Parts: sequence; structure tokens; C-alpha cells
Amino acid sequence: MDEHTAPDRDAYRAAPVDPTIAARLADQGLGYRLVSHDGDEYAAWVQVIARGFQDAERTADQIEANRERSGYRRATGVYDAAAPMAESPVATIASWIGELAVPGGRGIPSCAISAVTVSPTHRRRGIARAMLEGELRSAVAAGVPMAMLTVSESTLYGRYGFAPAAFSTSWRIETRRATWIGPRPGGRVDFIPRTRVREIVEPLHVRSRLRFAGEIEMNPPAWDAIAGTWPHAEHAGAKRAVQYADAAGEVRGVAIYAVRENDDDFTKATVTVSYLLAETDDAYAALWRFLLELDLVAEVRASELSLDEPLRWMIADHRAATVTVRDHQYVRILDVPSALEARRFGAAGVVALEVDDPLGHAGGRFVLDVDANGVGAVAAWEGADEPADAVTLSIGIAELSALYLGGVSAATLVSAGRARSSDAAATTRIFSWHTVPRLSFWY
Ligand SMILES: CC(C)(COP(=O)(O)OP(=O)(O)OC[C@H]1O[C@@H](n2cnc3c(N)ncnc32)[C@H](O)[C@@H]1OP(=O)(O)O)[C@@H](O)C(=O)NCCC(=O)NCCS
Repeated sequence: MDEHTAPDRDAYRAAPVDPTIAARLADQGLGYRLVSHDGDEYAAWVQVIARGFQDAERTADQIEANRERSGYRRATGVYDAAAPMAESPVATIASWIGELAVPGGRGIPSCAISAVTVSPTHRRRGIARAMLEGELRSAVAAGVPMAMLTVSESTLYGRYGFAPAAFSTSWRIETRRATWIGPRPGGRVDFIPRTRVREIVEPLHVRSRLRFAGEIEMNPPAWDAIAGTWPHAEHAGAKRAVQYADAAGEVRGVAIYAVRENDDDFTKATVTVSYLLAETDDAYAALWRFLLELDLVAEVRASELSLDEPLRWMIADHRAATVTVRDHQYVRILDVPSALEARRFGAAGVVALEVDDPLGHAGGRFVLDVDANGVGAVAAWEGADEPADAVTLSIGIAELSALYLGGVSAATLVSAGRARSSDAAATTRIFSWHTVPRLSFWY
């Protein structure tokens, strides 16, 4: 998508809530409106989100830090005028337009959704459904072709057309058993202070995030949280950080971790890696080697890694690592032609696509024609018969969204009864991509 058609982020942030959904909630006696970032109503909205995620009340300083850094978010609340604390919302949602990396090294504008809470006093009355449908309608109205979120529970968002499109892995590595057999790059690993992490991590991420489908553009609060520079951050002092600079002195990677001592045995501390970002293979190898060879450490833990980490091939004993998999990045296509034309495909071919979308945003019949360079062009599928030489794919919008980033194959979806195809192998080759999607964050 070029600049001329890119959705206007400011206009999206300020656009009024969807009138159809506002009317639906008004029928239940509930107000549905945007929340201003100024004044007390923002503080009340932040407190309700903290309560919704079982967190402690936020301090005044934390609220101010949040207010200063969260201007990019569209904040929405549902209000019950009959409640004793009528100035506090009974439900919250936030969204913003960010960029999602797609196969082929490009980004697509995507509506990120976060802070979905409904007060336990108002649960299971359709308020979350109303807010999700409202946010998706607003995104469609703004011309955003995709939506995305990370989830507290796997069962919540399939009903709105979202599907897990990038899985994540959590690792526990017994360091003495692992034994480093990977490269030993010639650059330097050095400790750096948290303020330096904050300076280098964002540009490193900007330079590298399009390499992996599923990664997203991140905003300032995430970098402060990662670096430990968020004002009054809890346990910031526990964060240790190292950078990797290559032989030319260019910083190519950073790792942030915390160490927990074992009081019964000082040789058995646990290291938890909160973030490791490497722009080059050398930086990746040097930083992981540093972490796995730390003295007095028995176990290294890391999460939000990908399903296909080079790290697995850098240790002598595969069973030194216990790896668990979780659904992580959920995406939802809102505009099939824009989404398909933004990514690159693994093989040439023609797919006659029949897409079912219960919410009515992206369903229809399309012909995807992929050329020898992996570039797809999408046209309407007219007439009853599929074009000559086309393979067919009948698929729900959630399943197409899962397929989109390359994290599952068409053949697997067909075997699971989640899609139908006249030629699952050919469809799989067309939709394939050579790297697995990933997402290194929660949002
Ligand atoms: C999850 C939460 C937002 C649901 O809010 P809610 O207003 O009770 O949900 P709704 O009444 O609108 O339910 C919408 C649909 O989701 C289903 N649903 C709601 N909560 C569910 C849950 N925990 N597990 C599975 N399904 C759930 C409902 O059955 C309903 O299904 P249907 O419309 O297809 O029949 C709310 O319970 C909450 O705030 N939980 C704690 C915070 C949280 O986990 N937020 C999500 C962050 S990703």
C-alpha cells in the first residue's frame, strides 16, 4: 500500500465511535464513546484497565507516564450512568493503526487492538462483542486492511474472524548441558546502561522488523518498558543489558535479562531474557553465546521466540532445551485484495478463492494470480466456474488470516477440515513462505 492510500492515523484516532454499535449499547442503557487523553476520565479509564487485568491500582505518576506516552492510541470506554462510580467505564478498548510485517519484507497498515476489558459486574451481556465489532467497523471505515491483537485467552476472538497467525515459543535451557557449538563472531559484547538500551533498541528494531512476518511497529511505551526506563518502573534495577558491536564498531544487537540467585546453591542462578534483538546472524550468535556461557547460571529462560530459532542448531544437546509453543499473534483480514497484494508468495499459480466472513467485512469470491516473482494480483471472481488452470480454495476469514502470514500451510488447514481445496499441494506451494512468522512482544 503506498502513501496515497495509507489510512490516516490521526483521523482514525479521533473518529467518533461507530453509530450502529453506539445505538446497540444505548438500548442497554450504556454510553459508548471515545475517552479524552486529558483530564480525569483518562485516569479512570487506565485504572479500570489495570483492574480488568488483575493488576494493582496505578499511582498518579504511573498514570501521567502512561498519558504522556499513549497519545497514539484511540481510547474508548463504555459507561453505565446508573453505576455508583459513573465516571469510571464498565468496559474499555484501545486501538491504533500500526504496521504488520508480511511475507516478502513489506508492512501493511493494521489496526492493533488492546486493553479489552469488561467489568465483572457487566460481563456476558455482549459488551465485548459490541466493542470488538465497533472497532473493526471503524477500522474498515478508515480503510485499514487488517486487524491484529495478542490475547489473554485463546477462545475469545475467533468469533470475530481472528486467528493465531504467528506462534511463539518459550525456552528453558539447562546451560551446562547445552554446550555452545554455534559461531563465535569477532565483534564485542559489552554491558550498557538502561538509558543506552532505550537509545539503541528502537532504531535497531526499525531496521530489522520487516525481516519476519508477524512483527509489528512498536510505540514508545514498549521501549521504555523493555529498557526499564519507564518512570517508577518496578524492578528496573534488576535489568542487565549487553550490546553486540561488529568488527566495524556498529551496534547490531542487544540483550536484556535479569538474574535470580539460588540461595541454596550460588552456582545455580536463573537468567530470564526479557528481550533479545539481533540485526545480524553474528549479533544473534554472540548474544546467545554470552547468555548461555554466563558463570554461576544453571538455567536460561526466554519467551516470545519463534518456532524456528537458529538457537536450536547452536547447542550440542537439543534436550537441554525444553520448548513450549503458544498461539501468540492473532490477525484478521479486513480487505482481501489489499492484504493479498501486499505479501509475496512462494510459487506462481492461480487460486480461485471463496472467502466466508460472518461479520460481512471481507467475504467474497476472488481470483489470486501470482506471477513468477511471487507477486499476487487479485480480481473479482465472476461467473460460476473457476478460471482455467486455477486451483480452488474455500476458506473462512479466520483461516485465511492464519494462512496469510505463512504460519500454517493450506494442506494442514484442509486436513483439519478448516478449508477445502481442489489441489491442497499446489495451494500450499503458492501460499508458502520460507521463514516462519513471529512476534517478539505482547501488546
Ligand atoms: C473477556 C471479556 C472481555 C469478555 O467480555 P464480555 O462482555 O463478558 O463478553 P461478551 O458478553 O461480549 O461475549 C462475547 C462472546 O464471547 C464469549 N466469551 C466471553 N468471554 C469468554 C471467555 N472467557 N471464554 C470463552 N468465550 C467467552 C461469549 O460467550 C460470547 O459469545 P457469542 O457472542 O459468540 O455468543 C471479559 O470477561 C474480561 O474483561 N476478561 C478479563 C480481561 C481479559 O481477559 N480481556 C481480554 C484481553 S485479550
